[in-house]
Amino acid sequence: MKQSSSFVFPLTLAVLVAVLGTGCPNQLSQLSALSDSSRSHSDSDSHSDSDSDSHPAPDPTPTPAPAPSSAAYVVLAHNDLGMHCMNEDFSEFMILPPYNTVRAQVIRRGEEPKIITSGVQVDYVIPSNTTSVNKTNFWTYALDLFGVTLPPDVGLTGNGLKGPMAAEPAAGDWVVTGIPVTPINDENQLDPYPLATISATKNGQKLASSQAVVPVSWEISCDICHSTPGISVATDILRAHDRMHGTALETQKPVVCGSCHAQPPLGLTGVQGVPSLSSAMHSAHASRMAVANLAVDCYACHPGFKTQCLRDIHFKKGLDCVDCHGGMQQVGDPSRQSWQDEPRCGDCHNKKGHEYEQTNTLFRNSKGHHGVSCSSCHGSPHAITPTVNAQDNVQAIALQGHAGTIDTCTVCHTMKPDDSFDHRFSGGDKAVTQDASEGNA
Ligand code: HEC
Ligand code: HEC
Ligand code: HEC
Ligand code: HEC
Ligand code: HEC
Ligand code: HEC
Ligand code: HEC
Repeated sequence: MKQSSSFVFPLTLAVLVAVLGTGCPNQLSQLSALSDSSRSHSDSDSHSDSDSDSHPAPDPTPTPAPAPSSAAYVVLAHNDLGMHCMNEDFSEFMILPPYNTVRAQVIRRGEEPKIITSGVQVDYVIPSNTTSVNKTNFWTYALDLFGVTLPPDVGLTGNGLKGPMAAEPAAGDWVVTGIPVTPINDENQLDPYPLATISATKNGQKLASSQAVVPVSWEISCDICHSTPGISVATDILRAHDRMHGTALETQKPVVCGSCHAQPPLGLTGVQGVPSLSSAMHSAHASRMAVANLAVDCYACHPGFKTQCLRDIHFKKGLDCVDCHGGMQQVGDPSRQSWQDEPRCGDCHNKKGHEYEQTNTLFRNSKGHHGVSCSSCHGSPHAITPTVNAQDNVQAIALQGHAGTIDTCTVCHTMKPDDSFDHRFSGGDKAVTQDASEGNA
């Protein structure tokens, strides 16, 4: 169903849940603030329906490598997290809703490339996965969980499975939050790594496009331990909680865990004195993991044995979750700020002259080289290219002929610069331009 431009998105609140996540805890996501929802909604209002519906269907095949000498623009896109976790069934409780966030940078190639945030239209579509409403019961329970009635296939921030992306000039990005995609494709097969096509157009003419994985999984294996014959896994969990903590969750289905345990990705601050959901889950389960005898404990709840959300260069080099995050007890440490105190590239990498994440900024929000996002060149966390999953490498291969870090200057520069490559943010604001001239170029 299409969203009419007069559609008033019902989110009021806090609802907020906005949500999302990634990381894999199974559901995670980093949700960002509600203000995102209003922004992206008003952005979609600025594009008429007929506009987005009349776009030529994006080409579902991989974008061919542009002749570097001739392409005027380049698009670099990525999902904010290397994995977004969501529940499959929302009838009993919810940890995380469907909610993927994709960011893109549109760069006008030149001797001095320019990061463009106006004068063009940027759209996303997931050709292999165009509907969700028949794949999960999220839309049946959205009202109970979030107090909002959502049209089919529309997610918590008013965005659907295709549509326009909104400019964020201050970040030099285009963004769409809360895409309600599921890991089941239109052929009814499991695909946690579908490719989105992101296209930049001007006056209906395609300038450039690219493809990025929109990772999503509901492989959350609580059933390894929570299976009691005759009742569902969720009921087993709610009963254990009620018995151990004097709550009555089983009578309050569907339960939002974040209504009592703070969950930053949903914008939920929880009840004072109750540990955050991350702290509660990791610390309470730390001593229980041994019985399961898993090679990677984390995959009991994060996706997962099949999904293998850690699939990047670090996985290839033999690193594991605990090498970067520490074990269950450390992740559950109540003095950690969940979703904020995360590992940093700069904890381990320290090449001379290189700068890594910006101060007090997560990797996913950091910029390097004159305002180019870290993820534009390296991919998403846990999917730092090259990865062992072919879809993650499609973008780099299309743009520069080989997988891995975008290390080919002429992806963006029309001539290889004489000066050496500066792996730091310095000077970035210069590259981010309002570029009013884009309107009449
Ligand atoms: C090479 C280091 C590294 C490894 C290995 C690693 N992570 Fe992470 N993880 C990170 C970084 C860095 C972040 C923060 C990303 C950011 O700042 O945007 C992160 C963030 C997360 C988050 C928060 C959501 C997100 O994606 O930002 C979760 C959940 C997570 N990791 C789970 C895992 C699990 C589970 C594993 C193993 C399957 C794992 N990580 C392996 C580095 C790592
Ligand atoms: C490795 C085994 C294991 C896995 C995997 C596991 N649990 Fe548990 N969980 C336990 C055990 C053991 C208990 C204690 C149950 C009891 O004493 O009846 C428990 C208890 C709980 C409780 C009750 C509160 C408390 O104090 O711990 C909740 C809530 C819970 N688990 C949620 C989950 C969820 C949600 C998942 C999946 C994301 C999960 N568990 C996965 C072993 C596990
Ligand atoms: C109505 C409020 C409420 C809801 C909803 C709720 N919890 Fe809890 N939970 C609590 C309280 C209170 C405690 C006990 C905290 C303490 O002892 O410090 C607790 C404890 C826990 C613990 C054990 C923490 C520890 O350190 O031993 C886990 C794990 C947990 N909750 C998971 C969940 C999950 C998963 C959900 C959603 C299915 C959930 N909770 C929903 C209130 C709630
Ligand atoms: C028993 C289930 C369970 C296991 C096992 C588990 N996690 Fe999680 N994890 C969760 C849940 C649930 C969340 C989501 C919390 C939220 O939404 O705030 C989460 C969130 C996270 C986050 C993001 C929030 C934060 O605290 O920054 C990180 C990082 C993370 N897990 C790392 C790990 C690592 C590393 C392991 C293995 C050592 C692991 N987890 C094992 C259930 C689990
Ligand atoms: C726990 C330490 C640790 C963290 C945190 C970490 N890395 Fe690494 N990284 C490594 C190790 C170890 C290697 C393999 C080095 C080797 O084989 O010489 C590696 C290799 C790489 C490589 C391949 C190129 C090279 O230098 O070998 C890239 C690119 C990379 N990491 C990027 C990142 C990014 C981006 C982040 C943050 C999102 C990050 N790393 C976080 C430890 C880490
Ligand atoms: C314009 C593309 C580009 C951007 C943007 C970029 N990088 Fe890199 N990065 C590279 C290239 C190329 C290399 C390898 C070349 C080299 O080692 O000098 C590299 C290497 C790395 C490495 C591994 C080598 C090392 O330094 O130990 C890490 C870690 C890294 N980058 C992190 C980051 C982070 C964090 C950001 C954002 C603040 C970022 N990069 C932004 C292109 C980029
Ligand atoms: C992903 C796009 C991208 C890639 C790849 C890239 N650059 Fe850049 N580069 C930019 C942008 C954007 C600017 C900012 C131009 C401006 O000053 O407005 C820039 C600026 C520069 C500048 C400063 C130019 C000036 O006059 O201020 C140098 C030098 C440079 N790049 C060198 C390199 C080298 C060498 C490589 C290959 C190793 C490279 N860049 C790869 C996007 C890129």
